[in-house]
Amino acid sequence: MVDSVFRTRSLGAAAEGVRDQYADGKAAKVWQVYIGDKNSRTQHYKDFLVGLLRKKGCKRILDVACGQGVDSILLLEEGFEVFSIDASDKMLKYALKTRWNRRKDPAFDKWVIEEANWLSLVDDINGLQFDAVICLGNSFAHLTSSVNDIKKALKNFEQCVKPGGMLLIDHRNYDYIIDKGATPAHSIYYNSKHTTDIKTSVLLVNGEAQMVTMDYVMDISDIASAGEDHESHFRLSYYPHRLAGFTNMLAEVFDKKAKNTIYGDFKPLKEIEDPAFFIHVVEKP
Ligand SMILES: C[S@@+](CC[C@H](N)C(=O)[O-])C[C@H]1O[C@@H](n2cnc3c(N)ncnc32)[C@H](O)[C@@H]1O
Repeated sequence: MVDSVFRTRSLGAAAEGVRDQYADGKAAKVWQVYIGDKNSRTQHYKDFLVGLLRKKGCKRILDVACGQGVDSILLLEEGFEVFSIDASDKMLKYALKTRWNRRKDPAFDKWVIEEANWLSLVDDINGLQFDAVICLGNSFAHLTSSVNDIKKALKNFEQCVKPGGMLLIDHRNYDYIIDKGATPAHSIYYNSKHTTDIKTSVLLVNGEAQMVTMDYVMDISDIASAGEDHESHFRLSYYPHRLAGFTNMLAEVFDKKAKNTIYGDFKPLKEIEDPAFFIHVVEKP
């Protein structure tokens, strides 16, 4: 049952009904293993993200899905000022621990980490605006909510971007997943050696894909203690965004003059067939 892994928590009226899939601590515990070492964002990923932000002159970044802090840490190390939020305290505790351990480094001492929710984000962070807002790692599809809520969350992201700034938001290639019923296990983001399989189920309601559930299987034999299982499993469910629909929603939420450049696995779309991830870079006029 998909719902059995969910716990409902609320951070305010607006966030009522949003589910923290990490609340039981299971995915959070093995997340470090899933994404590989924190220094293991692929070089390609680092070059793409840091290159884009520098090219646009961005200095202050809001990471709206910081999780355990993988992107935020990368950006702090590259000299950006970072404000990080996430709705899951189970995930945030790892980010808070890193900030504490590295507090003697001024960049980490200034790192702001808050618990907040996309549905009440503008209020949660008192209307602050940033040069760039990032929502990466297939995070946005966690909002398995109504289309109105999805648009509300995107509008909140838009409001957190300063005029002239940008939003970087990604999602897996759900067109491929829905049409083929499978997820490529390779990742352009993480260097993890441990992921052996991502078992994918697509829930159809009246012929429309409503939810994609991924059961991650990881071989942890090299880090398991004696007597512990050599395989680890965790499950996450996603609202599957088709590329065309998601692109239209971004266009609705941003001003007509906003420009959205879409990349597939960090390459211009015409240079790649069946990418694993789409990355939208929306420039706010
Ligand atoms: C797939 S994890 C990715 C974390 C990180 N970006 C990474 O790549 O490792 C998605 C994160 O989005 C967060 N999230 C999901 N729904 C949220 C919401 N409504 N508001 C804030 N954060 C949310 C989850 O708690 C989780 O930490």
